[in-house]
Amino acid sequence: MLDVRADFPILERQINGKPIVYLDSAATSLKPRCVIDAVTNFYTLHTANVHRAVHALAEEATEQFEDTRRVLARLINCDENEAVFVRGTTEAINMVHRCYPGLKRSVTTAIEHHSNLLPWGFGPDRHIVSVDAEGRIDMDALDAVLAGGIDLVAVSHVSNAIGAVQPIKDIIDRAHAAGALVLVDAAQSAPHLPLDVKELDVDFLGFSAHKMLGPGGIGCLYAKAEHLDKMSTWMLGGHVVDQVHREGYTLQEVPHRFEAGTPAIEAVIGWGAALRYLAGIGLDNVHEHDRELVTYARNRLSDIDHVKLIGPTDPQRSGSAVSFQVDGLEAHGVARMLNNRENIMVRSGFHCAQPLHESLDLLPTVRASFYVYNTKEEVDSLAQCLEAVIQFL
Ligand code: ALA
Repeated sequence: MLDVRADFPILERQINGKPIVYLDSAATSLKPRCVIDAVTNFYTLHTANVHRAVHALAEEATEQFEDTRRVLARLINCDENEAVFVRGTTEAINMVHRCYPGLKRSVTTAIEHHSNLLPWGFGPDRHIVSVDAEGRIDMDALDAVLAGGIDLVAVSHVSNAIGAVQPIKDIIDRAHAAGALVLVDAAQSAPHLPLDVKELDVDFLGFSAHKMLGPGGIGCLYAKAEHLDKMSTWMLGGHVVDQVHREGYTLQEVPHRFEAGTPAIEAVIGWGAALRYLAGIGLDNVHEHDRELVTYARNRLSDIDHVKLIGPTDPQRSGSAVSFQVDGLEAHGVARMLNNRENIMVRSGFHCAQPLHESLDLLPTVRASFYVYNTKEEVDSLAQCLEAVIQFL
């Protein structure tokens, strides 16, 4: 197990005289001191806009900003010009929808976050493949839809709601064999496991900094260079243009033509610190740590009467979240009790995946989600608190 808690100042906090037990990293992660320092350092010593002026502060800011792109590209194994800074996964998906031509016929799955359902619309050209109770996509149904002619498969790598990991390489290969492109929502996988976009041969992949120890308001759209070349811009303004005349304009090279206006400079620089920190731990080690915690949590919670686990039973198919219900108690009530009694912070509800709950006939669930700073003792606290509550049922 990793031992990095000392790097996260917020974990020193107490509420009502008790430590906090943060089990909501699928929503957003805590930030290590190096990220906080990087943002503070930018404000304290390097504040300037990027890609514009030639003065010293501007050059320092631009260098730090572009360094994040380099680290990012190394981390997912893409070229620097294939990594576009966006506000987050949601913007990455919407940008592909708006800017890539000819994505009329699409297929998504019933397990998607709303962000990877809503942009693709509701007409006859949008298909939704079902999943089973463990979050496994019906691959025969996917093949059948692909055989009918599809432009894009849009699928999440790891479910935010029930933690199911999809056989993403298999899906990409099937889609490509049928002539479809593939967009992967990697919001819940990029923070937790190694990703190699070249090996996956994925066309588009989006993820967010704030779920991987970085600041809010920034993320990445990876797209193959040949796809970026075909994409239109959806925002115009400063930085995206090369020449502007009264009669018209010419665009900058990719990825800059997609980054209109002053970006979230401090967030990008903070993300660079987060990515270096994660690379220092090693994504393999992060993955191992998460898997151990999820396995421990599923075992621990499955021993408690009245707790019903939701999602994948196989640890190899589990991301970093465990979802459950408690007989006779509604999910928000459980979450409130965990918070009020022991500062145990989980998410409850539909987790922005209401169609999944509808298709599996599930009431809202409670989700405990883990990351590098969580421990088995925290899982024990969750289990003990649930046991204490349940004994009064
Ligand atoms: N998508 C985030 C979650 O699952 C916010 O909580």
